[in-house]
Amino acid sequence: MNNHTSVPVGVLGASGYVGQELMRLLAGHPGATVAFATAESAAGEWIEGRRLIRADDAPFAEAEIVLSALPHGVSARYVHEARAGGSRAIDLSADFRLSPDAVYGLTEFTRPRLSDAELVANPGCYPTAALLALIPLARLGLIDASREIIVDAASGVTGAGRNPKRELLFGEVSEDFRAYAAGNTHRHLAELRQSLSREGGFTGDLVFTPHLLPVKRGILETIHVPLTRVLDQATAEGLYAATYDGEPCIHVMHGALPSLKDVVYRNRVALGVVPVADVRRPRLTVIAAIDNLVKGAAGQAIQNMNVMLGLPETAGLVC
Ligand SMILES: NC(=O)c1ccc[n+]([C@@H]2O[C@H](COP(=O)([O-])OP(=O)(O)OC[C@H]3O[C@@H](n4cnc5c(N)ncnc54)[C@H](OP(=O)(O)O)[C@@H]3O)[C@@H](O)[C@H]2O)c1
Repeated sequence: MNNHTSVPVGVLGASGYVGQELMRLLAGHPGATVAFATAESAAGEWIEGRRLIRADDAPFAEAEIVLSALPHGVSARYVHEARAGGSRAIDLSADFRLSPDAVYGLTEFTRPRLSDAELVANPGCYPTAALLALIPLARLGLIDASREIIVDAASGVTGAGRNPKRELLFGEVSEDFRAYAAGNTHRHLAELRQSLSREGGFTGDLVFTPHLLPVKRGILETIHVPLTRVLDQATAEGLYAATYDGEPCIHVMHGALPSLKDVVYRNRVALGVVPVADVRRPRLTVIAAIDNLVKGAAGQAIQNMNVMLGLPETAGLVC
């Protein structure tokens, strides 16, 4: 346990969707207080009782740990500055996810490496759900690497950030549904491949197609997994239940498939499985649901922060 009664935390990018979620979670955290919170265009505004200052004015020395929810490409500079000022850091952008200098913060699988980490790269929202769905099968050698894993994922519009964009206007997304970054062009793929190889030992092909779902928050991934042998429903559910036994933030469903209402506002991934009937080679459909802003971003960052600080892992979180 850390000696402090309340750990001072700096939040970079507190006016964004992820930053706002960090501020909401920190406001209810029993062992942490916000030392400073930054914004760019929204500097001077207030969130959760804190006046937002510019990142260039952040008093890094006042924070024991800095959480960065800045855009990728912008975040790295400020994270380096925070580290130079003596703070530990969790970066929620993509800037350090492929870097050997950071511990990848997929809590359930990298927990032992987090306690002493000085810099943690918080996973992306799509990869968090896909990895928690696939690593259990990969570790048991159940995925047939001669065939592709197909990940069809749909995300609510907060996944694209709060910066105004024409294609995200209500008039464009409402009552519509569309794919984007098709053909394996989404930037999360490299991270997904890296961690599936590192944590699961799987190096086969993946086809990942994201979709834009006209809801505010939540991701649902339908993952078609080629298997090396037939698994019946009870066996498939049983192996997930065994892998995640005692994990507070993973909800393995039995005889049911998850939907967004199982996960929104929770630091949780919900998983459901169903063997595919009437195919010549064995296949399992795994459905994973996650709140992109909570377990997909701010909640997982708080979970990682708790591990880094020796606090109870779910302090301040509803799983
Ligand atoms: N949205 C998600 O579901 C999600 C999930 C996982 C990870 N992430 C990652 O988390 C990070 C934040 O995402 P978001 O969706 O919250 O983005 P966002 O809503 O666009 O927020 C970005 C934040 O960064 C600030 N900012 C922008 N440009 C800046 C600059 N040049 N200097 C200093 N501050 C700057 C913004 O300030 P102003 O708004 O005041 O200008 C805002 O506070 C991104 O790296 C994203 O990839 C997002």
